[in-house]
Amino acid sequence: MYQELLNREKKLAVIGLGYVGLPIALEFAKDFDVIGFDINEARVEMMKRGEDPSSELDATTFQNRSITFTANYEDLKTAHFFVVAVPTPVNEDKSPNLRPVLGASETLGKVIKKGDYIIYESTVYPGCTEEDCQPVLEKVSGLKTGKDFKIGYSPERISPGDKLRTVDKITKIVSGCDAESLEEIAKVYGHIITAGIYKAATIKVAEAAKIIENAQRDINIAFVNELAMIFSKMNINTHDVLAAAGTKWNFLKFVPGLVGGHCIGVDPYYLTHKAEKMGYDPQVILSGRRVNNGMASFLASRTIQMIIKEGKNPSKAKVLVMGITFKENVTDIRNSKVADIIKELKEFSIDVDVADPHASNAEVEHEYGYGLVSNPSNDYDAILVAVNHDAYLNKDEAFFKSLSSCGRPIIVDVKNLYKGKFSDKVNYWAL
Ligand SMILES: NC(=O)c1ccc[n+]([C@@H]2O[C@H](COP(=O)([O-])OP(=O)(O)OC[C@H]3O[C@@H](n4cnc5c(N)ncnc54)[C@H](O)[C@@H]3O)[C@@H](O)[C@H]2O)c1
Repeated sequence: MYQELLNREKKLAVIGLGYVGLPIALEFAKDFDVIGFDINEARVEMMKRGEDPSSELDATTFQNRSITFTANYEDLKTAHFFVVAVPTPVNEDKSPNLRPVLGASETLGKVIKKGDYIIYESTVYPGCTEEDCQPVLEKVSGLKTGKDFKIGYSPERISPGDKLRTVDKITKIVSGCDAESLEEIAKVYGHIITAGIYKAATIKVAEAAKIIENAQRDINIAFVNELAMIFSKMNINTHDVLAAAGTKWNFLKFVPGLVGGHCIGVDPYYLTHKAEKMGYDPQVILSGRRVNNGMASFLASRTIQMIIKEGKNPSKAKVLVMGITFKENVTDIRNSKVADIIKELKEFSIDVDVADPHASNAEVEHEYGYGLVSNPSNDYDAILVAVNHDAYLNKDEAFFKSLSSCGRPIIVDVKNLYKGKFSDKVNYWAL
């Protein structure tokens, strides 16, 4: 397979061209003939014009690539090596929503032929590829895994907004349904991944490896978030504590904060769902989730307490929230926990303005029902800096005072950006 792809006798297709699918498709398209397939026609039209709908890649990344973008699944019939990178969200009740990954499997079932390869990259629980997706592929195609076609799993580890650790520079875990497929899949990915390939023992091992990376991060952040809640009652700055404790060689360096987005705050539920299905009641993972989900409420309460302590009536207060994306310097607002803070402040009848230099006003309106202010006013009682966008890093006391008509503006610094920078003419608190 690898040699045929390299000789351009066979084509590679990527199914789902979002944060994960598009960069890998463009990387493969340097040396292979690639078909980029997505069900979202508007996104496909943008990519045909050399625009990344996720705003991560610039136009030069599309240049000198052998890639055809399409929303027509019939075009996939000319491909032989398929990479699936569709979303794996959770439902309202936090159970895995497998509709995209099963939908993509159904599409592939209609186009695969004997000798083809299907590699899943979407983050799933151990067993999903072989127990949920494989039966769909077999049923729709009438072909048999191993004998007629091969499957594999290779998790993606990129982090949106990270311009240094791009897809080619992160060790790629690969797995296959048998020894032959493992070798072939390793060779195909090895062609584009300069950081190296790790061959996992089985597909389930590769699935589990990815899901625990994110669950581990979630639990570690939950621990420091819990510390932040305890220490705020004691008027101790958590970052001071972490800096002191961090002088020990084996102390793990995590900082408190909101855990949103569609990876860290979502993937652990895939693991706990599977654990529960297997009759195991996961304690640590779910309690970490609960702590992290409680942070928005904690920060909203803290802001309201500070407003009351300044002698103000929250129902007449005006708050500016700076930053609504789920992390710094990205446009993605999905599952942003800042939105939970805003919701809670509004429930106390607080007048909330939201500003963000990266988020799209139309998307925020569509997702949350309110827009962004492009020119914040000068009469805020409190300013909550929720995201550490580069544009916010060098803001000084004069900037915050210009946003406030009251004598002593309240500043809630969720990311600890301004500690030690302000005089006592502002009422400053950092998580
Ligand atoms: N975003 C990240 O940083 C990141 C990192 C590592 C792993 N992952 C995992 O990778 C997977 C993809 O995530 P993403 O962030 O790229 O998602 P995304 O939402 O950015 O993009 C997914 C794309 O798939 C398309 N799509 C949905 N259903 C489809 C179908 N049936 N057929 C074809 N296209 C379909 C959508 O239109 C969209 O363009 C998820 O499982 C995610 O957990 C994401």
